[in-house]
Amino acid sequence: MSEKYLITSALPYVNNQLHIGHLIGCLLPSDVYARFCRARGRDVLYIGGSDEHGTTSEIGAARENMPVEEYVEKYRAKHLDVVRDFKLSFDHYGRTHTPQQEKLIHELFERLESQGMIEEKVSNQPYSVNEKKFLADRYVIGTCPRCGYDRAYGNECEKCGASLDPADLINPHSAIDPSSPVEMRETKHLYFKLSSVTDKLRAWVNSRTGWPKTATAIANKWLDEGLHDTPITRDLKWGIPVNKPGYEDKVFYVWFDAPWGYVSISQIATDDWASWWKNPDCHYTQFMGKDNVSFHAVFFPAQEIAVNDNWKTVDVLKALNFMNFNGAKISKSTGNGIFLDEALNIAPSDCWRYALLASAPETDDTDFTMTRFAEIVNKDLNGLLGNFVSRVCKLSNKNFGDTVPAGGATDEDLAHRINEKLAELTGCLDACEFRKSIIALRDIYGIANEYMTEKEPWALVKNGDTAGAAAVLNECFQLIDLFARVSAPIIPDAAEKIQNIFAGTHDLSWPTMYEHRIASGEKFTVPENLFTRIELNDAE
Ligand code: 2FM
Ligand code: ZN
Repeated sequence: MSEKYLITSALPYVNNQLHIGHLIGCLLPSDVYARFCRARGRDVLYIGGSDEHGTTSEIGAARENMPVEEYVEKYRAKHLDVVRDFKLSFDHYGRTHTPQQEKLIHELFERLESQGMIEEKVSNQPYSVNEKKFLADRYVIGTCPRCGYDRAYGNECEKCGASLDPADLINPHSAIDPSSPVEMRETKHLYFKLSSVTDKLRAWVNSRTGWPKTATAIANKWLDEGLHDTPITRDLKWGIPVNKPGYEDKVFYVWFDAPWGYVSISQIATDDWASWWKNPDCHYTQFMGKDNVSFHAVFFPAQEIAVNDNWKTVDVLKALNFMNFNGAKISKSTGNGIFLDEALNIAPSDCWRYALLASAPETDDTDFTMTRFAEIVNKDLNGLLGNFVSRVCKLSNKNFGDTVPAGGATDEDLAHRINEKLAELTGCLDACEFRKSIIALRDIYGIANEYMTEKEPWALVKNGDTAGAAAVLNECFQLIDLFARVSAPIIPDAAEKIQNIFAGTHDLSWPTMYEHRIASGEKFTVPENLFTRIELNDAE
């Protein structure tokens, strides 16, 4: 039986067009890892979807003057286009506003309550006098008690990352009606007794390996600062209703339900979902931006542990830092960045996939520019990969017709060099180290180019060494086959085009060693150019 791999990508809120930051922050690395795992024969369940609840949806809908359901549908459609256009190979790209999610959360809540993990508390919350309602999360804006930023939200400060309670805010006011006086009034909410899971959670965090430093540091910072019981209900209409008498006007907090979306989406994806989610031997990797780490490293696993129902917790939490564009934060409101509905007018998805991974913000925030994009595409994809494939096919076709010329034994020196890089690439992808993976992949392309430059098959032909030229070109076709296999997780469209050069079918399974799979005499076609150069002026 093959090993079970569960892979999830953070569920983006459906309140905006996605940009390259979303793509590199979780969607793309998770897809590459899922493709790589499948190519190795692992049994993968790869899950993503829309995070539809929370005040981001409600406030966005109010701003666009439409019902929340319609608003969520509008942005989800845009996200689905991105999934299709950037070849994200989710087994299911689901959503959180479903009956399955509601059932799961209701059961979770009941079970937590029966285990004594829920407490009702009366607290003072900001109440908007004119609007006649309590202000939840992003509905209330005020000064952050930690860093003094004056546009902090009721649930978090976007400046310093503090997770806040609305009552913490200094000078709170309503986001919708800033003129309305806001006063603190008593109301009751349900709290998850997070503090009581502290010891178990610390032991759990300590037992995790392979996390990026950023992720471990965030988890430990939370534990060191001390975990506090957390309110899990909100005074909102949109969300999962609270299944407890006396809470008819409230819904569950979006972060109480969102990560469980991975489970309910899995339940919709396959009847066999428990063989991942209830299986201690399954290997689970989560992908997310660093702003999501506290919820995945603390809040969600604490719930999973507390509910004591054999839920699979994450093994590797792959957190990425932020990607900036032209030295500034990517943002729809300032218009800085590349949005995914426009990106494909500049270049095909493979170019974005490769260039973004080559710039992945793995150890620190990174800056992306069009100059960098054009350089990477032109040098690596158009130059090292595309030109090699095209030169080999054209030269061979001109001298030996449309079949792969006769070869001999594998060039041992070449095989040795390739195998070294192949092991490196495999190790990097296994460890989800994407920048390093791209370096190893580029080295493989580079070795092949050096081989051809050194062997000069065109000179062999000219000097009458037809058999020698045939053998070199045969080796080059084997390298092209290898290119398709090792490139497939990263640039799936190009890999398919490369594979289609050959008349026979050759799977794109992940190679353990460089091998000759293409028979002498197999028909091939000279492909159209795989990539086009990006001219900087056009791109800009
Ligand atoms: O930051 C965000 O866009 C959140 N919606 C991510 C949620 S991830 C998971 F928990 F659903
Ligand atoms: Zn702050």
